[in-house]
Amino acid sequence: MDIARTIGTFREARATLLPPVGLFPTLGGIHAGHLALVDQARDECASVISTLFLNPAQFGEDEDLDRYPANESEDLSSLEKHGVDLVLAPPSNLIYPKGFSTNVHVRGISDRLEGDRRPGHFDGVTTVVLKLLNITTPDRAYFGEKDAQQLRVIRRMVRDLDLPIEIVACATVRDPDGLALSSRNAYLSAEERTAALSLSRGLQLANDAFIAGERDANRLRNLVRLELEAESLIQIDYISLADEETLNELDGELFGKGLLSLAVHVRETRLIDNVTLG
Ligand code: PAJ
Repeated sequence: MDIARTIGTFREARATLLPPVGLFPTLGGIHAGHLALVDQARDECASVISTLFLNPAQFGEDEDLDRYPANESEDLSSLEKHGVDLVLAPPSNLIYPKGFSTNVHVRGISDRLEGDRRPGHFDGVTTVVLKLLNITTPDRAYFGEKDAQQLRVIRRMVRDLDLPIEIVACATVRDPDGLALSSRNAYLSAEERTAALSLSRGLQLANDAFIAGERDANRLRNLVRLELEAESLIQIDYISLADEETLNELDGELFGKGLLSLAVHVRETRLIDNVTLG
């Protein structure tokens, strides 16, 4: 596996890769959920690139950038074991050189839910992802449904700007007890982890109700709310049932699909999860 620290060395190595080339971008703190994306890219592409960059621009001032559980040598070794051909692990000044002044904003879809609670977050994501896509020029890029809104924002950007890249969505990987894998799970104590199981439990209850015929958006959201409110360690940030594509909040009867998503704090740790109904 080649590891590039500059754009020049990256481009040299990139030029030798056989198409189709798949890209897996990550902040680091690699876990089995990330590696499922790598494995899918490995299965579907002749070559696999990863970018490893803890992007400061997508973290708010009071967020966890300083303690984010990324460990570069462990992350590189996981990527190598899963057959990645080339990694771009750039220093921050390569991505944001002095005088950097460009901002990519996807209107509408990036302003609600996570975007509303974490102002500037998606601009940080889209700006860096566009830059990483431009540097790495993949044929396909792999993103997780775990970050359902991020996936939709990136899809919108790629369509709007006619980037010749296929965005591939990968299913959320969970622990056997239902907890969605996340780098931030590393922050949870045993007691907090038990409380965090109510996220997937609540979503599952709503999904079961949907399958049994429940279509009332408020009742579906309330099933999740009741489950979360039963946990004293949890503070609800939002529970949303929204149009699967536009992420406009749904009211009344649900026709077709809906994205049921939530964000909570388990004490200090912010977690998100979602399920698609229908
Ligand atoms: P990061 O949090 O490192 O996630 C990298 C990719 O892994 C994302 O596409 C995310 O949706 C996916 N992922 C995380 N947990 C997952 C799980 N349990 N199951 C399936 N996929 C999962 O998301 C980012 O990095 C950054 O915003 C990035 C796109 C790299 C831009 O900086």
